[in-house]
Amino acid sequence: MTTKIIVSAVAAALVISAAAYAHNGATGVVKERMDAMSTLGKATKSLTEIMRGDVSYDAEVVRKNAAQIQKHAGNSMTKLFPEDSLMKPSEARPTIWANWEEFEVLAMRLETLAVGLAASADNGLMASGGAPASGMMGTDSMTSSGGMTSSGTMMAGSMTTESGTLPDAAELASMPTDGVFNMLAQTCASCHTQFRSEKN
Ligand code: HEC
Repeated sequence: MTTKIIVSAVAAALVISAAAYAHNGATGVVKERMDAMSTLGKATKSLTEIMRGDVSYDAEVVRKNAAQIQKHAGNSMTKLFPEDSLMKPSEARPTIWANWEEFEVLAMRLETLAVGLAASADNGLMASGGAPASGMMGTDSMTSSGGMTSSGTMMAGSMTTESGTLPDAAELASMPTDGVFNMLAQTCASCHTQFRSEKN
C-alpha cells in the first residue's frame, strides 16, 4: 500500500509537469531535450499505470517503456546540456554546470535503473508476491502479502535516499519490478528538485 502511494505521488508530479508544459518557442538543444524529457514523461506515465495496477501487468510493455527511458538517459541526456544552455523557455537551472558531476551521476543512474527495470520485468509486482503476469494487483493479494510489501518498500526507500549507492545489475534484476520503478521515478524527481526551476 505504501509503495502504491509513493509511486502515485512521485509519478503523478512528473505526469502533471509534462502536461502543464508547452515547448513554446523552444529551439535547438533546448527543444531537443524538452522533447526527450517529454518522451520520458510518457514512458513514465505508462509505467505508472502498470505499477499501480490500473492496467494489467505486461512485462513486454514494461520492457518497451524501459528501453525508451534508457535511450534518453546517460550520455544521451547529458549531451543535451551543453554548458550554459539556458535559452528561453528552458527551465534548466545554472546550478547544473556548477554541479556537473552530480547531474551526470543522476543521468547515469537513470540509465542503470532503466536497464534494471527491463531486467526485472518478469518478476512482476511486489504486491502480487513477485509472480510474473499474475494479472490484477488486487487489494486481496496486498493483504496476504502485506509483510513482503512493507519490507520491500523500506528496502527501496533506503536505497534511493542516501549516498547515491545503487543495487548492482544482478540485484536489480532480482527485485520486484515496481521496486525498481520506484527508484527510477525518484531519480527523475531528485534531478528535477535540484536542477529544474519550478515555474508553477
Ligand atoms: C539528470 C537530471 C534529470 C533527470 C534524471 C531527469 N530529468 Fe527531466 N528534466 C531535467 C531538466 C534540467 C529539465 C528542464 C530542461 C529545460 O527546460 O531545458 C527537465 C524537464 C523535464 C520535463 C519537462 C519537459 C518540457 O516539456 O519542458 C519532463 C516532462 C521531464 N523532465 C520528465 C522526466 C522524467 C519522467 C524523468 C525520469 C524518467 C526525468 N525527467 C529525468 C533534468 C532531469
